[in-house]
Amino acid sequence: MTDISGRTALITGGASGIGLLMGEILLQKGLERLIVWDVSDQNIAVAAERLSPGAEFHRIDVTDTAAMLDVAGQIGEAGPPVDILINNAGIVVGRPFATHNHEDIDRTMQVNATALMHLTRALLPGMMTRGQGHVVNIASAAALLSNPGMSVYCASKWAVVGWSDSLRLEMEAAKTGVRVTTVLPYYIDTGMFDGVKSPVIPILKPKPTANRIVRAIERDRIFLRMPAIVNLLPLVRGILPARVFDIVVGRIFGIYESMTDFTGRQT
Ligand code: NAI
Repeated sequence: MTDISGRTALITGGASGIGLLMGEILLQKGLERLIVWDVSDQNIAVAAERLSPGAEFHRIDVTDTAAMLDVAGQIGEAGPPVDILINNAGIVVGRPFATHNHEDIDRTMQVNATALMHLTRALLPGMMTRGQGHVVNIASAAALLSNPGMSVYCASKWAVVGWSDSLRLEMEAAKTGVRVTTVLPYYIDTGMFDGVKSPVIPILKPKPTANRIVRAIERDRIFLRMPAIVNLLPLVRGILPARVFDIVVGRIFGIYESMTDFTGRQT
């Protein structure tokens, strides 16, 4: 069990969406120190009003590895070190791969995949020395299938799952006391995926989703896939021929058309 009361948590991308909600919930559960990193001044201003006076905010672009590692190194000087790291910052470029520019590709992979590894690499030795800590990686159900209109996003989230669960195995084998939880939610109604259509599987609500992630942290869950039907994806993908899987997921569940009217957040 991971105790939240009295602990310190760092949430990347914590000034919006489920990151902001998780911060609120953690504070309600008695978290001692909440550090929120976000690249958006506008989101930080809104979040600061909601989380004030419980949180510390830093404007950090997680793709600026040197700056990020510098600030990460200073966390322990200003107070207790990070016990719970929630790698949550994410972006999506919702368009066909052939229309991506090269910056889109690099930035999506950096924000969604490599930044998590750099930040975790920086904070992990402290957790291992203290014999406790929890790394929570927000991936996506997009890590369990292929989806037109979000190819690079899918690639980044597949990368997160492969890395995150390998890290878990390493931490367990070395009996470090550091837990790793990988979270794979379906679409959530935060604005990030505005315009998506999901005719069969309901789009998740942000507050219950954030609550379930926090409960998964408390229970040291290895994977949290939401909603429950997402748990069937690896099995179904494994046993069905690819063309049949395409019919079930694409045509019956309508997933392959889900990004057709994607707009993303307009503000
Ligand atoms: P959101 O867009 O509401 O919040 C993401 C936050 O990350 C924003 O405040 C943004 O400013 C920040 N951010 C973006 N780039 C950054 C950077 N370079 N450095 C620091 N901060 C940065 O998104 P939401 O929906 O709350 O998503 C959170 C996580 O959940 C993401 O990793 C996303 O991929 C994942 N997810 C979201 C789903 C959805 O349907 N919204 C579904 C499955 C997973």
